[in-house]
Amino acid sequence: MNPKMGNLIYAGKAKDVYETDDPELVIVKFRDDITAGDGVKTENFVKKGFYNSIISSKFFEVLEEAEIKTQYIKLIKPGYMLCKKLEMIPLEVITRNIAAGSLLKKFPFKTKQELNPPIIQMDYKNDEYHDPMLNDSITIALDLANQEQLDMIRDITIKINNVLKDFLLGKNILFPDFKIEYGFDNHGNIVLGDEISPDTCRFWDSKTSEVLDKDLFRKGESGVMDAYIKVASRILAKEDLKKWNIENLESEF
Ligand code: TMP
Repeated sequence: MNPKMGNLIYAGKAKDVYETDDPELVIVKFRDDITAGDGVKTENFVKKGFYNSIISSKFFEVLEEAEIKTQYIKLIKPGYMLCKKLEMIPLEVITRNIAAGSLLKKFPFKTKQELNPPIIQMDYKNDEYHDPMLNDSITIALDLANQEQLDMIRDITIKINNVLKDFLLGKNILFPDFKIEYGFDNHGNIVLGDEISPDTCRFWDSKTSEVLDKDLFRKGESGVMDAYIKVASRILAKEDLKKWNIENLESEF
């Protein structure tokens, strides 16, 4: 039995969080809105929430199998994810395996330069301040997390990167970078939350370097949903697709 969906408790730029009749659980609704530039550029793509939710749930399942704690419990139906309630930490934890995006604007890296060991960067999740990059002293002074928690966040993030990079490579997808967010559960444990989707990651085809993520929207290019559907069709197993009555994703093109 799924818990009953209650009141809206948080509305983000692309997802809404609803309380349920179980105080420890929430339902995360993935909306079709897409934004860039701290919400300045917005659009709506039919079924984007559907695809991002099935992609995120697959990644969370892969991570749970690797014994990483996540807030994910299950996908009730595409677009609606049942999750443990977390107190989210306003940090955007970004991991970079290949130089791309804002890193190239801020520092003299070469385009597509391999970053080994990967860069882990933390930004303050705050649109008003345009998500500025943090260091540990600022993070601790802002009381967002203490040193021990930051060290733990880095350790878990490195493990997540290794698991997902290998999983994606097996699906012919490169993983240049991604952003994740953590929260505290009601025992004070640091738990992975939010989403892992083409909205929050860079995905490139490993053979052709075709872009398969939100960068297409950021750059005003077409084919955004086609790219998201490609990611879903590559990473989800046949049984996953059957579960949601989407046996043949490509036919949706
Ligand atoms: P960046 O190169 O623009 O800093 O982006 C790094 C990664 O973070 C990339 O995979 C996209 C993701 N990201 C978000 O999830 N939300 C954001 O607001 C931004 C700017 C990036």
